[in-house]
Amino acid sequence: QNTAVPSVWTSDRGTMAQETAKSRWPKLVQGMIDDVCTTGAELGPTPALDEIKSIQGKLQKLKEEIIGDAELRQLENDGSADIAAYNQMLEIGRLTWLHCPWLYGECYLYRRVQLLFSTSTSWKGYDVFKRQKESTLVMSQKAVEELATRFTQVVINPAQPVKTLDDELARLVFAEMTELALWGNATDLSLLTNLSLDEIQSLQGKAAIEKSQQNIVDNDMSEVWQYLRTTQSSKPKRHIDIVLDNAGFELFADVLYAAYLIESGLGTSITLHAKCFPWFVSDVVPKDMDFLLEHLRSIGFNSLATQIKIYFELGLMRVEVDPFWTTAYSFHDIIRKAPELFQRLQDSHLTIWKGDLNYRKLTRDGLWPHTAPFKSSLGPLGRSGVRILALRTNKSDTCVGVESEKKVESLNREAPEKGWVRDGKHAVISYSDGC
Ligand code: F6P
Ligand code: MG
Repeated sequence: QNTAVPSVWTSDRGTMAQETAKSRWPKLVQGMIDDVCTTGAELGPTPALDEIKSIQGKLQKLKEEIIGDAELRQLENDGSADIAAYNQMLEIGRLTWLHCPWLYGECYLYRRVQLLFSTSTSWKGYDVFKRQKESTLVMSQKAVEELATRFTQVVINPAQPVKTLDDELARLVFAEMTELALWGNATDLSLLTNLSLDEIQSLQGKAAIEKSQQNIVDNDMSEVWQYLRTTQSSKPKRHIDIVLDNAGFELFADVLYAAYLIESGLGTSITLHAKCFPWFVSDVVPKDMDFLLEHLRSIGFNSLATQIKIYFELGLMRVEVDPFWTTAYSFHDIIRKAPELFQRLQDSHLTIWKGDLNYRKLTRDGLWPHTAPFKSSLGPLGRSGVRILALRTNKSDTCVGVESEKKVESLNREAPEKGWVRDGKHAVISYSDGC
């Protein structure tokens, strides 16, 4: 069903795709230029300085290419297998920055930038977004403190261990923790609930959680809960995979979500999937996890940092990378292009996909009707046996799973110009059982 819907292109008028390509990409590359310039200014006259100056010049040219709507050219080979795939996808016709599939063009942009560093001598592992990621985490200190305190109250030192809660309370805690992970992907965290267990049990607490759910335009939380709760006693091995999105506050929220899933017994171990090189500005690379733990210690959350470390040491949590995540393929292609990874996801108790880009890749960035079922937008993944839970705040053109046309119309009225698909204040908790 609906396999023929096109993916959004950067030439599609009035789309987020077009706006991003025209105005955000040049600014994004300017941000990279500023970063390497700062790094260069910290160096004495060395070959490394000459090299970073040359990278700076190439970034400047890249920015001009985007503004001038140049043709996307073949990527040079840095020895990684993904280059051939990028170049092969270029063969669909003449693509330019402002006339290409958005998903492809954006992935290609980050891969082009990575090439500048991977083919250098002194800057191979350089993270051009490190400064930005780290300073954003430092600036979110208040939110980090609130979340750490909240998590300690509910999960680490609760009045009653999460594993022993009755069904109704356990469901409410699951709802709160899932929403924390969801809204961790938003820029605006004002929708976070912050309630005690007693408050959660009270009518007022439930009302607060329900209120924050008003902006969730497709919400399959109860289906996921049913599945996790009923399999908790029937399946001994309940490994969960979380495909991460951003570093900083979101990573912190995701790690705590993973810890909650283990402590509650809903899962028995967790793999956190990160990227192998800097990607979409703030996506997690493994080093971001080290910085998060250091940061927690530096602001006085030593025991929480130690607790997280212990999960890793015991093998209950681990961070992994796979080159598939940084290809331009949509996840519809995972079966053919990354069969081993796919197999692991098939074997997983539940796969959780964070954020907007993962959602775009799950849905092939397709311009589906907003009422299309989530499962059908997943293409072959919809019936592949992979259980998929997407936790995504809406920041692009695609959004499916809305219950009716009437609901779409009312969202369009409340948030004109498709604001609800793009503003990061609306979200989806979409689930497919893979069958
Ligand atoms: O808003 C545009 C954008 O840069 C998209 O390219 C991308 O889908 C998204 O933001 C990144 O968001 P997230 O970190 O939630 O994947
Ligand atoms: Mg991201």
